[in-house]
Amino acid sequence: MTEYYAISATGYDIGSNSIASALDHQRRTTVAQMERMLVKPTDEYIFSKRGHMVRNRALLAAMTNKQSNEDGTLSDEEITWLTRRAKDGFGIVTTAASHVSELGKGWVGEMGVWSDNHIEGLTKLASNLKQHGSLSLVQIFHGGMKAPFEINNVIPACPSKMMNESTGKLLARALDNAEIYRLIEEFSDAAKRCEDAGFDGVEIHGAHSYLISQFLGLKTNRRKDEFGGSLENRFRFLKEIILSIRNKTSENFLVAVRISPKIGTIGISIEESLEVTKMLCEMDIDMFHLSCWDAFEELEGGQNLTKLFKPLVPETIAYASTGAIWSTADANWLMDQGADFVGVARVGIANPDWAQGLADSDYNPKRPPFTRDELAAADLSPVFIDYMTMWKDFVQD
Ligand SMILES: Cc1cc2nc3c(=O)[nH]c(=O)nc-3n(C[C@H](O)[C@H](O)[C@H](O)COP(=O)(O)O)c2cc1C
Repeated sequence: MTEYYAISATGYDIGSNSIASALDHQRRTTVAQMERMLVKPTDEYIFSKRGHMVRNRALLAAMTNKQSNEDGTLSDEEITWLTRRAKDGFGIVTTAASHVSELGKGWVGEMGVWSDNHIEGLTKLASNLKQHGSLSLVQIFHGGMKAPFEINNVIPACPSKMMNESTGKLLARALDNAEIYRLIEEFSDAAKRCEDAGFDGVEIHGAHSYLISQFLGLKTNRRKDEFGGSLENRFRFLKEIILSIRNKTSENFLVAVRISPKIGTIGISIEESLEVTKMLCEMDIDMFHLSCWDAFEELEGGQNLTKLFKPLVPETIAYASTGAIWSTADANWLMDQGADFVGVARVGIANPDWAQGLADSDYNPKRPPFTRDELAAADLSPVFIDYMTMWKDFVQD
C-alpha cells in the first residue's frame, strides 16, 4: 500500500515551517489509519474487484436453522427468515451451510445445493434478498466425517481414515484421489447453481471442522498424496475449489472464504491458519471471513484474533470477523481491529433490524433468553425455535 500522510482536520493554522512540522509529526497518520477511524458500521462498502456495493457493514453470518425440506429444497419458512433480515437492513445476508454433495449432509433440515432441483427455491430467495437491498451469499459446505451414517446411510468420508481410539469403531473412511477431484467439481457446480439462481456469491465454509477444515487439520489429514503432508498440500483442496469456482462462474461472482483460526481437535493451529490466510489472500477471492466465536478473546500479549489476522488481508479483499458482537460499541471495536464487515449470528436472530440499530451509538439490544413469542415475532418458525433450545439459555421455556 502506498503510504502517504494527511493532517487531521483540527482547524490548526500552521504558521511557521518548524511548528508545522512538529504539529504535523504529532497529528499525521496514514490514510489507512484515518479511514479506519472514520469508517462506521453504517457506512457503505464497495467490493473493489467486482464493483458490488453493500449498504452497510452488518453481515448476517451463516446460521443453520433446520427449516429446509427433507430433499434440501428451501421451505417458505427459511425464505421468510432470511428475507426478513434483508428487509430490515443487513448489508450482507448469508444462508445456512448448504451441502454440495448429496452425501455431504450433516443434519436434518439442512439446505442443499447439490441438485438442479434446488434452483427454484434458491431463485426465490435470491430475488427476495436482492429486492430488499442485501448482498446475498450461499454458504457452501460438505460435512465430511461430520456427515453421519444415520443421515446418509453411508460411512462418512474424511481425508484420512478416522477411528474412535477408545472403542475401535470406524468413524470415517479415507477418500480416494478420484473422489476428491469429484468433490471439487461438486463445490463448483453448486456455486454455479447459486449464480444461476441470482445470488451475488458464495461463502466457502472452510471453518468449524467440516470437510475443508478436515483437509487443513493435521489430525484428520495424514495423506501421502498431493492433498496431504505439507500445509501447501493440505490447502490444495480449498485452493482447487476456489480455482474451479472461478472457472465456472462469471467475472463478477463473489467468492468469500470462511475459516476457523484454531481447532485443536482436528489439528488446526493459529500459526498454520495465518499461513493459510496468506495463501488464500494471494488468490482471487473477494472476502476473507474469520470465525472467532469470541472476538474479544485475549491472546498472548493482549492481542486479539481479528487484529492478528488483519495484516495478511490486502485492501482489495474484504475482511469479515464474527464472534460475540452485540452492541454498536462492539461493532465499532471490531472495525477498529481492522474488520471491514461485522459478522453476527445470535444477535441477528432476535433483532432482524440489528443493522439499523447501529445508527445509534448506544444501541445494545436485549440479550438471551428470548421467549418463543419474541422469536416468532422475529420470523422464526417453531422448527427453528425448537432448534434454538439446543443453544444454551437462548430460549426461555
Ligand atoms: C443457530 C446457529 C447456527 C449456526 N450455523 C452455522 C452455519 O451453518 N455455518 C457457519 O459457518 N456457522 C454457523 N454458526 C456460527 C455463526 O455463524 C457464528 O460464527 C457464531 O454464532 C458466533 O457469532 P455470534 O456470537 O454473533 O452468534 C451458527 C450459529 C448459530 C447461533
